[in-house]
Amino acid sequence: MRPPEQIETERLLLRKPRMEDVTDVFDGWARHLEVTRFLTWRPHDSVMQSEALVKRSMEAWNEGENFRYILEIKENGSLAGMIELRLEIAPFKISVGYTGAYVQWGKGYMTEAARACIKWAFQQPTIYRVYATVDVENIPSQRVLEKVGMQREGILHRESVHPNISPEPRDCYMYAIVK
Ligand SMILES: CC(C)(COP(=O)(O)OP(=O)(O)OC[C@H]1O[C@@H](n2cnc3c(N)ncnc32)[C@H](O)[C@@H]1OP(=O)(O)O)[C@@H](O)C(=O)NCCC(=O)NCCS
Repeated sequence: MRPPEQIETERLLLRKPRMEDVTDVFDGWARHLEVTRFLTWRPHDSVMQSEALVKRSMEAWNEGENFRYILEIKENGSLAGMIELRLEIAPFKISVGYTGAYVQWGKGYMTEAARACIKWAFQQPTIYRVYATVDVENIPSQRVLEKVGMQREGILHRESVHPNISPEPRDCYMYAIVK
């Protein structure tokens, strides 16, 4: 099973990353501390780190486990962020993760993208669960997950290291939607 190379929503084109995206990835989200605060990686210091991220994302499509889409705003071609679908060894579930372009926060783009990804996932007969884990203090991301219909299932103690906050592993919530 492979996600489609493109998914279209009302305002967005979700498409595979390409090398021309590197500068926008760097300027739009990868270099921002505000964006990376609750993530597992530090903001990029140089565009070369974003180049490596884009390359890895392109390779991952070929390897067939992680599928990272660029969110392109159809109206003007600018980028609203990235969303990633991760297929699990257990073939009945998928996890989702995302980063939004800082200047595009609050316009509902990630909610729109996540909704479309969940829709695709549940069109697959074998997929019964889509889930995400999120830092207990990451309210904007929790809102996205709630707006797409996910339930907060519980707390995962010391689940993930978010080095921009602390070197110690932090508590996260498990959110999921099932069919
Ligand atoms: C989470 C994120 C992708 C949301 O993207 P988005 O396109 O802004 O999503 P939405 O417009 O639907 O907004 C979701 C929530 O973000 C919050 N938000 C919106 N604009 C904001 C801003 N300028 N500053 C801070 N929070 C903001 C609000 O709580 C909003 O919820 P609401 O609609 O109930 O008011 C974005 O905030 C982001 O990139 N965060 C950093 C990366 C991250 O944490 N990824 C998830 C890891 S689990």
